[in-house]
Amino acid sequence: MKKIAVIKGDGIGPEIVLGAIKVLDVVSKKYDFPLQYTDVLMGGIAIDNTGVPLPQETIDICKNSDAVLLGSVGGPKWDKLPGNSRPEAGLLGIRKGLEVFANLRPAILFPQLKEASALKPEILKDNINIMVIRELTGGIYFGERSRVNLVGGGQKAWDTMAYSTYEIERIAHVGFETAMKRNKKLTLVDKANVLESSRLWREIVTKMATNYPDVTFEVQLVDSCAMQLIRNPSSFDTILTENMFGDILSDEASMLTGSLGMLPSASLGNSKLGIYEPIHGSAPDIAGKDIANPIATIMSASMMLRYSFDMEKAALDVEAAVSKVLDKKYRTIDIMQPGMKSVGTIEMSNLIANEIK
Ligand code: IPM
Ligand code: MG
Repeated sequence: MKKIAVIKGDGIGPEIVLGAIKVLDVVSKKYDFPLQYTDVLMGGIAIDNTGVPLPQETIDICKNSDAVLLGSVGGPKWDKLPGNSRPEAGLLGIRKGLEVFANLRPAILFPQLKEASALKPEILKDNINIMVIRELTGGIYFGERSRVNLVGGGQKAWDTMAYSTYEIERIAHVGFETAMKRNKKLTLVDKANVLESSRLWREIVTKMATNYPDVTFEVQLVDSCAMQLIRNPSSFDTILTENMFGDILSDEASMLTGSLGMLPSASLGNSKLGIYEPIHGSAPDIAGKDIANPIATIMSASMMLRYSFDMEKAALDVEAAVSKVLDKKYRTIDIMQPGMKSVGTIEMSNLIANEIK
């Protein structure tokens, strides 16, 4: 019996999580693999019900689970709250609380969606398959920040990007090991021409590269990487980068694959316990309308099967099911193209679940 803590969250979160659960239920039946779900609160809904974005009970239940399935958090309703009481503070808190420092964000273009990509076919070439490895529990997201009033009027605010050797080494290790299992190319993305923290990253990771002679290791500045992702996306295999750069580049990479609604993620630490969530946000403007794309969350569930439950076969089943449904021309509106069949969140989830049975 595997225990899954479920954080539906805000906006479209509950709808897309239900889609992923539908798929997990089918897998559970097919492989006679019992799953037990426990709903816990986090984000705006937790603020409304308990007064805080991340109740202690949520942390405790997540820590006692085998995996966490997460929708999305945040929305205009909570935008005026101070930084550490916002829904997003709950998300950062659970990432930190579970010490899931390695965030894997695969950007894979389904061939069926070539037309939906923001890029021309000749730039996409045969395939896009990039793994963005984002450091998730350090850097500017967690560094010291503050705001003060200035004597002469006005204010001053700051955020700090700090990294220590061990934080860089442990994520770089994940980077090299991941690259070894893929096409053996690792690109470290930084801003070493300006930032001291980037210079430390570059020193450490370059040194570690000598232990991985089979991996082609290169470094790229983040501005240049942002440009190359559009100019020559197929030149990338595995990208390793710090927290904020990874946040930005993974959204950019998602548009290569057709939609932000397609990109899953796995956040892993030193144990098997991981957090699985789509990379997109809570999309409050389309919440409750049954139009959100559940595929990013369903693909996140497939990463859960692979990384937390060691069920590679079931993970491949889920991915094949998504591909088959796309073959049959079903599309949510974010990936809709002429001649395709438009479906909502629930129908898309059911179609994918039915392919697995
Ligand atoms: C993501 C999101 C979050 C992040 C937000 C919601 C705090 O953009 O997972 O990429 O910045 O990490
Ligand atoms: Mg983001």
